[in-house]
Amino acid sequence: MSKTGYRPIRSFVRREGRLTAGQQRALDELYPRYCVDWPGGRIDVAAGFERPAPLVLDIGFGDGDALAEIAAAHPDRNYLGVEVYRTGTGRLLRRIESEGLTNLRVLLADASELLRDGLAPASLAGVQLFFPDPWTKKRHHKRRIVQAEWLARVSDRLQPGGFLHMATDWADYAEWMRSLSEAEPRLDNPYGGYAPDAGDRPETRFERRGRRKGHEVFDLILQRVDV
Ligand SMILES: C[S@@+](CC[C@H](N)C(=O)[O-])C[C@H]1O[C@@H](n2cnc3c(N)ncnc32)[C@H](O)[C@@H]1O
Repeated sequence: MSKTGYRPIRSFVRREGRLTAGQQRALDELYPRYCVDWPGGRIDVAAGFERPAPLVLDIGFGDGDALAEIAAAHPDRNYLGVEVYRTGTGRLLRRIESEGLTNLRVLLADASELLRDGLAPASLAGVQLFFPDPWTKKRHHKRRIVQAEWLARVSDRLQPGGFLHMATDWADYAEWMRSLSEAEPRLDNPYGGYAPDAGDRPETRFERRGRRKGHEVFDLILQRVDV
Protein backbone atom coordinates (compact mmCIF):
# COMPACT_ATOMS: atom_id res chain seq x y z
CA MET A 1 0.00 0.00 0.00
CA SER A 2 1.31 3.45 -0.84
CA LYS A 3 0.17 6.62 0.92
CA THR A 4 -2.25 7.22 -1.90
CA GLY A 5 -3.78 3.77 -1.57
CA TYR A 6 -3.56 0.64 -3.68
CA ARG A 7 -0.63 0.42 -6.09
CA PRO A 8 -0.71 -2.50 -8.52
CA ILE A 9 2.31 -4.80 -8.83
CA ARG A 10 3.81 -4.24 -12.26
CA SER A 11 5.96 -6.56 -14.36
CA PHE A 12 8.09 -3.62 -15.56
CA VAL A 13 9.86 -0.51 -14.31
CA ARG A 14 10.02 2.58 -16.46
CA ARG A 15 13.76 3.20 -16.64
CA GLU A 16 13.65 4.97 -19.96
CA GLY A 17 15.21 8.43 -20.13
CA ARG A 18 14.31 11.17 -22.56
CA LEU A 19 13.81 10.16 -26.17
CA THR A 20 15.95 11.77 -28.85
CA ALA A 21 14.19 14.26 -31.11
CA GLY A 22 14.14 11.64 -33.90
CA GLN A 23 12.64 8.97 -31.65
CA GLN A 24 10.01 11.41 -30.40
CA ARG A 25 9.16 12.41 -33.98
CA ALA A 26 8.74 8.76 -35.02
CA LEU A 27 6.32 8.25 -32.15
CA ASP A 28 4.41 11.48 -32.78
CA GLU A 29 4.03 10.84 -36.51
CA LEU A 30 3.79 7.08 -36.78
CA TYR A 31 2.07 5.98 -33.57
CA PRO A 32 -1.31 7.52 -34.51
CA ARG A 33 -1.02 5.82 -37.89
CA TYR A 34 -0.09 2.33 -36.67
CA CYS A 35 -1.53 2.00 -33.18
CA VAL A 36 -4.82 0.46 -32.24
CA ASP A 37 -6.86 2.94 -30.32
CA TRP A 38 -7.62 2.04 -26.70
CA PRO A 39 -9.57 4.75 -24.94
CA GLY A 40 -10.43 2.22 -22.20
CA GLY A 41 -13.03 -0.53 -22.00
CA ARG A 42 -13.22 -3.22 -24.66
CA ILE A 43 -10.96 -2.48 -27.56
CA ASP A 44 -12.11 -2.67 -31.18
CA VAL A 45 -8.96 -4.43 -32.40
CA ALA A 46 -10.31 -5.23 -35.86
CA ALA A 47 -10.75 -1.51 -36.55
CA GLY A 48 -6.98 -1.08 -36.36
CA PHE A 49 -6.29 -3.48 -39.24
CA GLU A 50 -6.95 -3.31 -42.95
CA ARG A 51 -8.69 -6.67 -43.04
CA PRO A 52 -9.97 -9.22 -40.53
CA ALA A 53 -7.66 -12.15 -39.71
CA PRO A 54 -6.87 -14.33 -36.68
CA LEU A 55 -5.27 -12.09 -34.06
CA VAL A 56 -2.00 -12.86 -32.24
CA LEU A 57 -0.95 -10.76 -29.25
CA ASP A 58 2.80 -10.23 -28.69
CA ILE A 59 3.59 -9.07 -25.17
CA GLY A 60 6.74 -7.01 -24.56
CA PHE A 61 8.24 -6.99 -28.06
CA GLY A 62 11.32 -5.02 -26.95
CA ASP A 63 13.08 -3.64 -30.03
CA GLY A 64 10.38 -5.26 -32.20
CA ASP A 65 12.73 -6.87 -34.72
CA ALA A 66 11.57 -10.44 -34.04
CA LEU A 67 7.92 -9.40 -34.11
CA ALA A 68 8.34 -7.59 -37.44
CA GLU A 69 9.93 -10.74 -38.88
CA ILE A 70 7.12 -12.94 -37.58
CA ALA A 71 4.41 -10.63 -38.95
CA ALA A 72 6.09 -10.55 -42.36
CA ALA A 73 6.26 -14.37 -42.37
CA HIS A 74 2.53 -14.74 -41.51
CA PRO A 75 0.52 -12.40 -43.73
CA ASP A 76 -2.56 -14.54 -42.98
CA ARG A 77 -2.60 -13.34 -39.34
CA ASN A 78 -2.94 -9.98 -37.65
CA TYR A 79 -0.41 -9.13 -34.91
CA LEU A 80 -0.85 -6.71 -32.07
CA GLY A 81 2.37 -5.85 -30.24
CA VAL A 82 2.03 -4.39 -26.74
CA GLU A 83 4.92 -2.59 -25.03
CA VAL A 84 5.59 0.02 -22.40
CA TYR A 85 9.07 0.81 -23.80
CA ARG A 86 8.77 3.82 -26.12
CA THR A 87 12.21 3.63 -27.77
CA GLY A 88 11.56 0.07 -28.96
CA THR A 89 8.06 1.04 -30.04
CA GLY A 90 9.45 3.89 -32.16
CA ARG A 91 11.88 1.49 -33.80
CA LEU A 92 9.11 -0.99 -34.61
CA LEU A 93 6.88 1.80 -35.97
CA ARG A 94 9.61 2.73 -38.42
CA ARG A 95 9.82 -0.87 -39.62
CA ILE A 96 6.05 -1.08 -40.05
CA GLU A 97 6.26 2.06 -42.18
CA SER A 98 9.30 1.11 -44.26
CA GLU A 99 8.23 -2.52 -44.84
CA GLY A 100 4.53 -1.76 -45.30
CA LEU A 101 3.47 -4.30 -42.67
CA THR A 102 -0.30 -3.98 -42.86
CA ASN A 103 -0.89 -6.91 -40.48
CA LEU A 104 1.10 -5.47 -37.54
CA ARG A 105 -0.14 -2.81 -35.15
CA VAL A 106 1.17 -1.61 -31.78
CA LEU A 107 -0.15 -0.41 -28.47
CA LEU A 108 1.78 1.38 -25.73
CA ALA A 109 0.11 -0.10 -22.67
CA ASP A 110 0.46 -2.57 -19.82
CA ALA A 111 -0.34 -5.89 -21.48
CA SER A 112 -1.83 -7.29 -18.27
CA GLU A 113 -4.32 -4.42 -18.15
CA LEU A 114 -5.10 -4.90 -21.83
CA LEU A 115 -5.79 -8.59 -21.26
CA ARG A 116 -7.99 -7.80 -18.27
CA ASP A 117 -9.99 -4.87 -19.61
CA GLY A 118 -9.47 -4.55 -23.34
CA LEU A 119 -9.80 -7.99 -24.85
CA ALA A 120 -12.94 -10.10 -25.04
CA PRO A 121 -13.04 -13.80 -24.14
CA ALA A 122 -12.00 -16.04 -27.05
CA SER A 123 -10.75 -13.07 -29.08
CA LEU A 124 -7.17 -14.28 -29.63
CA ALA A 125 -5.74 -16.94 -31.91
CA GLY A 126 -2.41 -16.78 -30.10
CA VAL A 127 -0.30 -15.10 -27.43
CA GLN A 128 3.48 -14.71 -27.60
CA LEU A 129 5.58 -13.91 -24.54
CA PHE A 130 9.25 -13.99 -25.48
CA PHE A 131 11.93 -13.45 -22.82
CA PRO A 132 9.84 -11.57 -20.27
CA ASP A 133 11.70 -9.73 -17.52
CA PRO A 134 12.84 -12.62 -15.29
CA TRP A 135 12.70 -10.91 -11.88
CA THR A 136 15.31 -13.32 -10.57
CA LYS A 137 15.29 -12.39 -6.87
CA LYS A 138 12.84 -14.37 -4.81
CA ARG A 139 11.29 -11.27 -3.28
CA HIS A 140 10.58 -10.00 -6.82
CA HIS A 141 8.86 -13.17 -8.08
CA LYS A 142 5.50 -11.50 -7.53
CA ARG A 143 6.46 -9.06 -10.32
CA ARG A 144 6.82 -11.81 -12.91
CA ILE A 145 4.15 -11.36 -15.54
CA VAL A 146 3.40 -15.09 -15.56
CA GLN A 147 1.22 -15.87 -12.55
CA ALA A 148 -1.63 -18.37 -12.09
CA GLU A 149 -4.18 -15.57 -12.45
CA TRP A 150 -2.48 -14.25 -15.61
CA LEU A 151 -2.50 -17.73 -17.18
CA ALA A 152 -6.20 -18.05 -16.35
CA ARG A 153 -6.84 -14.70 -18.05
CA VAL A 154 -4.80 -15.65 -21.13
CA SER A 155 -6.70 -18.96 -21.33
CA ASP A 156 -9.99 -17.10 -21.23
CA ARG A 157 -8.95 -14.66 -23.99
CA LEU A 158 -7.66 -17.46 -26.26
CA GLN A 159 -9.95 -19.23 -28.67
CA PRO A 160 -10.10 -23.00 -28.29
CA GLY A 161 -7.22 -24.30 -30.42
CA GLY A 162 -5.29 -21.05 -29.89
CA PHE A 163 -1.69 -21.07 -28.69
CA LEU A 164 0.40 -19.59 -25.91
CA HIS A 165 4.10 -19.52 -26.79
CA MET A 166 6.45 -18.51 -23.97
CA ALA A 167 10.25 -18.48 -24.04
CA THR A 168 12.88 -17.64 -21.46
CA ASP A 169 16.61 -18.08 -20.87
CA TRP A 170 16.19 -18.33 -17.11
CA ALA A 171 15.86 -21.98 -16.03
CA ASP A 172 14.11 -21.04 -12.82
CA TYR A 173 11.51 -18.89 -14.64
CA ALA A 174 11.04 -21.68 -17.21
CA GLU A 175 10.19 -24.12 -14.39
CA TRP A 176 7.86 -21.52 -12.89
CA MET A 177 6.06 -21.12 -16.24
CA ARG A 178 5.87 -24.88 -16.73
CA SER A 179 4.49 -25.76 -13.32
CA LEU A 180 1.96 -22.91 -13.29
CA SER A 181 0.72 -23.76 -16.77
CA GLU A 182 0.39 -27.45 -15.84
CA ALA A 183 -2.07 -26.33 -13.14
CA GLU A 184 -4.23 -24.43 -15.68
CA PRO A 185 -6.75 -26.98 -17.03
CA ARG A 186 -7.47 -25.02 -20.22
CA LEU A 187 -3.83 -25.21 -21.36
CA ASP A 188 -2.59 -28.43 -22.89
CA ASN A 189 1.08 -29.10 -23.48
CA PRO A 190 1.38 -31.32 -26.57
CA TYR A 191 5.10 -31.78 -25.84
CA GLY A 192 4.58 -32.77 -22.22
CA GLY A 193 7.43 -30.40 -21.26
CA TYR A 194 9.61 -27.88 -23.07
CA ALA A 195 9.19 -27.77 -26.84
CA PRO A 196 12.03 -29.50 -28.73
CA ASP A 197 12.82 -26.24 -30.55
CA ALA A 198 11.64 -22.66 -30.86
CA GLY A 199 9.02 -23.46 -33.51
CA ASP A 200 8.81 -20.59 -35.99
CA ARG A 201 10.07 -18.04 -33.47
CA PRO A 202 13.10 -16.12 -34.77
CA GLU A 203 15.96 -15.35 -32.40
CA THR A 204 15.16 -12.26 -30.32
CA ARG A 205 17.49 -9.59 -28.97
CA PHE A 206 17.18 -10.78 -25.38
CA GLU A 207 17.65 -14.37 -26.46
CA ARG A 208 20.96 -13.40 -28.11
CA ARG A 209 21.97 -11.61 -24.95
CA GLY A 210 21.15 -14.69 -22.84
CA ARG A 211 22.99 -17.07 -25.14
CA ARG A 212 26.09 -14.85 -25.02
CA LYS A 213 26.03 -15.34 -21.25
CA GLY A 214 25.85 -19.11 -21.80
CA HIS A 215 22.17 -19.43 -20.84
CA GLU A 216 20.07 -22.31 -22.13
CA VAL A 217 16.80 -21.29 -23.81
CA PHE A 218 13.43 -22.88 -22.99
CA ASP A 219 10.29 -22.68 -25.13
CA LEU A 220 6.84 -23.69 -23.91
CA ILE A 221 4.23 -23.98 -26.65
CA LEU A 222 0.79 -24.62 -25.20
CA GLN A 223 -2.64 -25.06 -26.69
CA ARG A 224 -5.95 -23.77 -25.40
CA VAL A 225 -8.32 -26.70 -25.01
CA ASP A 226 -11.99 -26.98 -24.12
CA VAL A 227 -12.63 -28.41 -20.66
C1 LIG B 1 13.45 -8.65 -21.40
S1 LIG B 1 12.54 -7.70 -22.57
C2 LIG B 1 12.28 -8.84 -23.94
C3 LIG B 1 12.00 -8.13 -25.23
C4 LIG B 1 11.78 -9.03 -26.46
N1 LIG B 1 10.58 -9.87 -26.33
C5 LIG B 1 12.99 -9.88 -26.74
O1 LIG B 1 12.91 -11.12 -26.55
O2 LIG B 1 14.02 -9.33 -27.14
C6 LIG B 1 10.92 -7.65 -21.83
C7 LIG B 1 10.05 -6.54 -22.40
O3 LIG B 1 8.75 -6.65 -21.86
C8 LIG B 1 8.22 -5.35 -21.63
N2 LIG B 1 7.16 -5.49 -20.63
C9 LIG B 1 7.28 -5.93 -19.36
N3 LIG B 1 6.10 -5.98 -18.75
C10 LIG B 1 5.18 -5.54 -19.67
C11 LIG B 1 3.78 -5.34 -19.62
N4 LIG B 1 3.08 -5.62 -18.52
N5 LIG B 1 3.17 -4.87 -20.72
C12 LIG B 1 3.88 -4.59 -21.85
N6 LIG B 1 5.22 -4.77 -21.95
C13 LIG B 1 5.85 -5.23 -20.87
C14 LIG B 1 9.42 -4.55 -21.19
O4 LIG B 1 9.24 -3.17 -21.43
C15 LIG B 1 10.53 -5.14 -22.05
O5 LIG B 1 10.73 -4.41 -23.25
